[in-house]
Amino acid sequence: MRFYLTTAIDYCNGKPHLGTAYEKVTADVLARAMRARGRDVRFLMGNDEHAIKIEQAARERGLEPIVWCDQMEALFRDTWDALLCSYDVFIRTTEKRHHAAVQEFLTRIRDRGDIYLGSYEGWFCTGCEAFKKPEELTDGKCPEHATIDPKWLKEDNWFFRLSKYRDPLLAHFREHPEFVQPDFRRNELVAFLERGLEDVSISRRTTWGVPFPFDLEAKVYVWFDALINYATGAGFAADAAEFDRWWPADLHIVGKDITRFHGIQWPAMLLAAGLPLPKRIFGHGYVNSLGGRMSKSSGTKVDPKDIAAHVSADTLRYYLCREAAYGADLEWSDERLVARANADLANALGNLLSRTTSMVHKYLGGCVAADISGSPLVAMAAAAVDRVEAAVDACALQDVASIPMELVAAANAHIDAKAPWALAKDPARKDELAYMLAETAHLTYMAGALLVPIMPAKMGELVRRMTGVEPPKSGDWVTLRTRGLPKDRPLELGPPLFPRVDAIASEN
Ligand code: MSP
Repeated sequence: MRFYLTTAIDYCNGKPHLGTAYEKVTADVLARAMRARGRDVRFLMGNDEHAIKIEQAARERGLEPIVWCDQMEALFRDTWDALLCSYDVFIRTTEKRHHAAVQEFLTRIRDRGDIYLGSYEGWFCTGCEAFKKPEELTDGKCPEHATIDPKWLKEDNWFFRLSKYRDPLLAHFREHPEFVQPDFRRNELVAFLERGLEDVSISRRTTWGVPFPFDLEAKVYVWFDALINYATGAGFAADAAEFDRWWPADLHIVGKDITRFHGIQWPAMLLAAGLPLPKRIFGHGYVNSLGGRMSKSSGTKVDPKDIAAHVSADTLRYYLCREAAYGADLEWSDERLVARANADLANALGNLLSRTTSMVHKYLGGCVAADISGSPLVAMAAAAVDRVEAAVDACALQDVASIPMELVAAANAHIDAKAPWALAKDPARKDELAYMLAETAHLTYMAGALLVPIMPAKMGELVRRMTGVEPPKSGDWVTLRTRGLPKDRPLELGPPLFPRVDAIASEN
């Protein structure tokens, strides 16, 4: 079965930071987990290039916007590669295929009667690239972009008849309670819908943007253009069979600030174009720093590549999943990251692998051959696979991280309780020793295999040391419940997977 997963596409007016990386990493964990379950995954990421602030960033440096966007693409891809993000498609909204998709989408909506010419004036925040009602501003400023002054804009524009979709959307929310998650975000959107919708302006008199198909003077408003990237990425307006195969999206992962665009405007656009709605939209929280959202404009951004270079990309990925419930905010803290890296990964998991493999070598000649199929610990590990899969379905990434760590804790407790070094002194208890080490090795392996989506490099190495082969890219969990370690292959010894990490110097 296919699974089409997307992240928001990033404005590329500045380098990626830990806040934007949080979204890509967490979505990547879901993509990898769905692949491990045997699903045929298409994971889409990309850059949103038509914003006014991007054109400004380019011109300030004396560059044509497209030249700047080309440079930024390389930089974004480089960061996502460093963070082990396994996207299948990287979309840029300046691509020809996307322009064609936007124009086709607009033409369809116009043909169905939901686009008209009108005029609009109001406060516009270039940080959000959106008009703001006076009541949405605090002391005249957008609460999300306190360093940017909103501008008063008045334009004759093309409008999308969004108001018409209030009732159909309310019905959709009623019939599909899972449509927007977490539930409190869904409730916010339902309350917003109940207050009524106004039509939205979808064109701009600028030079940078997708040309309007039926007005040569106008460009498509960047949000209208950007949302359509999810259809472009599935083959819309280019390959009907491909689009049929991948659309509708199974899951859009987006930040809480843009859940409304995704849960209201985007589905209304799809209804207007006669296309099916995405199955689910998940609004994650923010990575905060010094009490506010980490952002390009607030000056609190942290480069995720620097952090990954210090603690490893796997460790950073684990921390981002484990530290806060997905959907809630995460307060960035170097100290918490280092503490977790050392407690959970160096001590609990890394040390478990080291001591298990070395004891299996010392006491059993390297292989774990005992038949442990009736062990309650094996049953616990099999049940953990079900629990992790349910957590993946619920986007409960903190559980996806913590459930395998329960196996790690159980294995460490088992070693401490059974004291294999004492068993080894008594030849009459040889079988007991072989059995408990086989149980311990099994728990270690299962925890590692379940943590591969979060820590693909280090857990790939753990699985390889224990089985002789790296986990396959797809389908690894399908038989995991019943599979065990090979009985005739020695576990491989190796250097610590997670060397202890030092505090991060303050310039980070
Ligand atoms: N270009 C739009 C999205 C269009 S999607 C059709 C946009 N870009 S953005 O660069 O501002 O943000 C990209 C994503 O990163 C959004 O989902 C946003 O919520 C998320 N984040 C930006 N800063 C963040 C944090 N500090 N923490 C977590 N996510 C953050 O919005």
